[in-house]
Amino acid sequence: MFRDPAIFLALRTQVLPVLASYPRINIWQAGCATGEEVYSLAILLKEEGLYDRTRIYATDINDVALARAEEGVFSLRNLKDFSVNYLKAGGRHSLSDYYHAAYGHASMDRSLRENMIFARHNLASDGMFCEVNMIICRNVLIYFDRLLQNRVLRLFRDSLVRQGFLCLGSRESLQFSDIVEDFGAIDADLRLYRKTLISTGAS
Ligand SMILES: C[S@@+](CC[C@H](N)C(=O)[O-])C[C@H]1O[C@@H](n2cnc3c(N)ncnc32)[C@H](O)[C@@H]1O
Repeated sequence: MFRDPAIFLALRTQVLPVLASYPRINIWQAGCATGEEVYSLAILLKEEGLYDRTRIYATDINDVALARAEEGVFSLRNLKDFSVNYLKAGGRHSLSDYYHAAYGHASMDRSLRENMIFARHNLASDGMFCEVNMIICRNVLIYFDRLLQNRVLRLFRDSLVRQGFLCLGSRESLQFSDIVEDFGAIDADLRLYRKTLISTGAS
């Protein structure tokens, strides 16, 4: 959890204060795998007092991964690293406040699950989500060729509200993509972007 803590710190300090001005917040986490990022996000939102008005749509193509994500059970072996990352990401408590440990596993607190919606979604063929305020899709596009990357990035652009946020993985970028003109970089090193235009859907 909280892998690349600098990005979670940037979400906490630069993105969530902006999202706080919206009465409802919709977040799409695409390629959620087994859920480490989605629980990290829920904790972040809870600590910033925004989770009650947030829906996180967590999607993946892999049903087995989705079922594990929904369970929210992680090996205790990983929790030490997760805790270090959590504190580097500006964590306000102890990560252990958010899970129950038993038999070598950590079960994430059920309250974190409340506003998560898990769904199968294939980025290569399925349609857009409407009016999301932020999309997080990290370490997924690296597995796609340029054509597919552009399809997915257009899908993200068209799913985001005006001035919505997009967060990619450290080896992914909007540079050289079809949608680069539609976004400004909040922090190019962290691959954190903000949509600047009302999409025409033309490119
Ligand atoms: C390396 S994991 C990234 C997980 C997480 N975002 C992270 O950074 O830790 C890549 C995920 O992308 C998913 N994926 C691969 N192709 C996909 C597709 N066409 N549509 C949706 N998800 C896909 C995989 O099932 C896998 O869970």
